[in-house]
Parts: sequence; C-alpha cells; structure tokens
Amino acid sequence: MLLPGLLDTDAIRKDFPILDRTVHGGKKLVYLDNAATSQKPRQVLDVLNEHYEQHNANVHRGVHVLAEEATALYEGARDKVAAFINAPSRDEVIFTKNASESLNLVANMLGWADEPYRVDHDTEIVITEMEHHSNIVPWQLLSQRTGAKLKWFGLTDDGRLDLSDIDEIITEKTKVVSFVLVSNILGTLNPVEAIVRRAQQVGALVVIDASQAAPHMPLDVQALQADFVAFTGHKMCGPDGIGVLWGRQELLEDLPPFLGGGEMIETVSMHSSTYAPAPHKFEAGTPPIAQAVGLGAAVDYLTSIGMERIARHEHAITEYAIQRLQEVPDLRIIGPVTAEDRGAAISFTLGDIHPHDVGQVLDEQGIAVRVGHHCARPVCLRYGIPATTRASFYLYSTPAEVDALIEGLEHVRNFFG
Ligand code: ALA
Repeated sequence: MLLPGLLDTDAIRKDFPILDRTVHGGKKLVYLDNAATSQKPRQVLDVLNEHYEQHNANVHRGVHVLAEEATALYEGARDKVAAFINAPSRDEVIFTKNASESLNLVANMLGWADEPYRVDHDTEIVITEMEHHSNIVPWQLLSQRTGAKLKWFGLTDDGRLDLSDIDEIITEKTKVVSFVLVSNILGTLNPVEAIVRRAQQVGALVVIDASQAAPHMPLDVQALQADFVAFTGHKMCGPDGIGVLWGRQELLEDLPPFLGGGEMIETVSMHSSTYAPAPHKFEAGTPPIAQAVGLGAAVDYLTSIGMERIARHEHAITEYAIQRLQEVPDLRIIGPVTAEDRGAAISFTLGDIHPHDVGQVLDEQGIAVRVGHHCARPVCLRYGIPATTRASFYLYSTPAEVDALIEGLEHVRNFFG
C-alpha cells in the first residue's frame, strides 16, 4: 500500500534492530505501542555504548579528562534539545527523570513560590479531563496542600476539549492552566492558541504536557507561547530515565528550587544556602548523564529525518488506520475519527470484548498494543467504558502493520464468537 507522505520505512526500520524480532514462536513483531514507549535506533544505542565504554564520569565535578568529556557531552545534549524545541536559551532546558517529574517540578515550584506566582487557598488551578494522571495528580496534591481550587475543561462526545465555558473555567483567580498538547488516550491535538489567549488575559501561567507531541511533530516552545513545556525522552527514540522541562528564563530565575542537594547550590553553610542559576538550580544530585547524552543522539536522529516529514508520515498512517478500523464491525473509536488535529494514538473498543482479551489475542499474533485506562482513567469514566485497546504509530510504522492489526482484530472477533 503506497500512501502519499510516507517515509522510506524499509530504510528506517534497518536502524531499529528490535523491529526484526519475532515473538511467540516465529511470529513477526508488529509493534503498535509507541505511545507507551518508542523503540531505539542503532544511532542512539551506539552513543550510549560509547558513552559508557569511553567517557563515563560524573559531570561538573572533576578536573580529569573523562569528567570534562562527560560534562561536554551532557551539556552538549542540552544544546541539542534547546535547538530541537527552539528554546531562546539553553539555560531554559532542565533535565529531569521523565515528564511526570517535570510536571511535579512545576507544581512544586508554584506551591513554594512567592507572589505573584504563589498558588494558595484563594487561587485556582485549571487542567482538563483528558490529562494523563501525571498532569492531574501533581495538581491535586498542590490543591490539597494549598487549598487552591482545582477546575477542569470537560470533553465533547467526539473526544475534543469542550471550551464553550472557557471564560468561566479560566478566571481572574486562575494562577496556572496545565494541559496536554496531544492526548495519549484519545489522540486529540488540542487548540493551544485559544487556551493560551485566555490564560494570558487573566495573567495565568501556562504549562503544556508535550509528551505525545515532541516525538511526532515539530515543537516550537516560542510559537506555543507557554511558560513551561514538559516531555520525556523514551517516547522519542531516546533512553528511559530522561525527561525535559523547558521554562521561560525569568520564571526559572524567580521560582524556588524543589529538590535540594549537590550541584544545585552556589554556597552552603550550616545555616543557609544560595542557589546556582537555572538550569542547575533544578538539577539536584548526579543527573541522568548517559540518558541525556542518549536523548541528544535521539534528537540528532529525528532531526536528520525531519520532524515535518515524520508528522506527514504519521498523518498518512493514522488516516489509513482510522479508515480501516472503521471497517471492523462493532469497533468504536474513542477519540476523533478524522486524521486532522490528532496524533497517531488510536483508542477503540470492540463490541463487548474486554480490551485485555483483545490485547492478549493480538499479542499471540505478534501484535503489541496497550490496553487499560492508559493512565487517563477520567477519560474512560467520561465515555462510560472500563478501558480501551490502543494502537499507536511512529516513524517506522507501515500500512502493512495496520493491515496486520485489522486481520488480528478479525481473529479476535472470531475467537470470541
Ligand atoms: N504515558 C504512556 C502511555 O500512554 C506510558 O502509554
């Protein structure tokens, strides 16, 4: 099947050794769980190996050759990430463990902040009903600790944000609006501009969870006009254990640190400490060094292919998958049923067959999908379903894999009568 906009997946798949695997006694692996984590190309695996074989040392601490090399590689990765997201300054890129830690970091900065950023009992926090738990629970914790009121945008029946009451949800009391750019469960790409415009009218900070966007489309933090953007490395061809929080420089200068320890200080006495400038103020302790270097290699890899081209490829695959899934009897897509304004994760239910059974029968055929509530349980509650099956695509996904999924689902239907 030739679709317009497809990448040369024969060439790309050669970069990903794991995609040649077979499972369950010789079944070809069809990996459709990319929203959970992406596979890693040789270009990243080789850099990780070389890092540990040639350059391993702690960063910012030693005067010896290895320490200097490791520091240059770690800080070089920061430069690469800054360029990848069009950050005005490399000092605005904070390395964390994952996107959850990035979002928790923002929530805690705001909880301990002085005016004008301080979140307290007389203020409001706004999120949406389609958030991953990582962008719900940190704000619930902050709300419980400070007494701030937690509010959220609901969802329309077709899986989009209901912004009809935006002026009542975001008010003069709103201190922060935090929302996902692309939903991990519904696939929806959210209308950033409308939300940012309203947040700016009332002087609220804007936090964007770009975990399902950064791997798949060009991400320009200046164009988004947000104050903070969080994402993770392992979904974008990088290793696990590395996340990013981008934040506007003046905010990072003003806001207090969350974790204390080595490397985030300027001076320490037994009575008090002063802090290093950002980003080091927010990177206490030995950071994920090899992971950051691996993320830098992933950024190089994705950039060499081109994020526009990756987005076009995924759009074509998603359009084809939506069309084919709609041919399957009793299948209901949970989320937008057009390929416009959405990402490449598609959730669905299949009659009354439990998603865990769907996932298991697909797995027996070599097809890897995710089943469950996808850490976005309020979405399942909203649509009155216990769980979904989710197929999610990436730059190496092919139309033949979509066909394999459809055949697999036929098999599931036959199996359950
Ligand atoms: N957030 C990841 C997912 O959606 C783990 O599967």
